Amino acid sequence: MPSYLITGASRGIGFALLEQLSENADNVVLTIVRNKAATESKIAAELPGRKNIFVLQGDLTNVDSIQNAFNETKKILGDSLDVLIANAGYISDYSGFQSLTELGQDTKALDADLNQCFQVNVVGNIHLFNIFLPLIKNGTTKKVVTIGSGMSDEKLAVDIGLFEGAPYSISKAAMNMVNAKFQAEYKKEGIIFMGVCPGSVDTGHYDNLSPEEMERNMAIGGKFMGYAPGFKGWSAPADAARDVLDVVQKANMEANGGQLVSHFGNKQWL
Ligand SMILES: NC(=O)c1ccc[n+]([C@@H]2O[C@H](COP(=O)([O-])OP(=O)(O)OC[C@H]3O[C@@H](n4cnc5c(N)ncnc54)[C@H](OP(=O)(O)O)[C@@H]3O)[C@@H](O)[C@H]2O)c1
Repeated sequence: MPSYLITGASRGIGFALLEQLSENADNVVLTIVRNKAATESKIAAELPGRKNIFVLQGDLTNVDSIQNAFNETKKILGDSLDVLIANAGYISDYSGFQSLTELGQDTKALDADLNQCFQVNVVGNIHLFNIFLPLIKNGTTKKVVTIGSGMSDEKLAVDIGLFEGAPYSISKAAMNMVNAKFQAEYKKEGIIFMGVCPGSVDTGHYDNLSPEEMERNMAIGGKFMGYAPGFKGWSAPADAARDVLDVVQKANMEANGGQLVSHFGNKQWL
């Protein structure tokens, strides 16, 4: 019975991962979410009858809640977990369309946004990994997957003039190094720490844009098209989840250990 734990399956890519992994009744799929009751209601409505899904409460900014989720996980799985997917993340709508110079006009708000990105996307995941590693060590698959982002690729940023979304991009770049450091420590134990970028996925962050944000979003789309002429716009979470799971399933230490790859399994982000 392969076991998976996904953070943040309340919506977006996380929910699509949960849906696809739990389709196979042999899999046991756990998720840590901030709002347990709301997620359970959504699962009951959209995925009725799936007895292999378990919802646990936890917030990445509250280490005690992650420790509690670990204790609950042990009650369900015993002493082993095969795959941990660190999907939950803070995608800042505040700084998504602006440059660092523009954001610097309000230093307090920029501080808050940088700290929030770092606390959730980096610090929270470090605690998550440390807490769950004892179970991963006893798993058969031994994979710790972060849903990373091509926005963390510094060459891409410079090449296509992608100045937007710096706090988020910085936190995702930091998370790449977190994976490299854990990989350096645990390679000898055969645990793979890997990042996968799901591509550019529509999870509702572009639903209520102001006319100015809409214009800026179009400009980002133009940059993406310049980079990948075949880019057809934002993909659906279900397609992204399928691609991510395919990359995770094929992953091995040599190609993926401590590395971020795209949904194509390489460094082509779109
Ligand atoms: N969408 C894209 O184009 C894209 C591209 C590259 C990478 N990614 C990465 O893919 C992952 C999922 O993205 P998404 O688009 O599905 O995002 P999303 O729709 O904004 O969902 C984010 C998820 O993270 C959870 N979360 C946020 N803060 C949390 C915290 N402090 N503790 C626990 N859970 C928390 C949210 O829970 P609540 O429901 O409680 O808010 C939600 O489940 C993220 O790591 C993101 O950086 C996305």
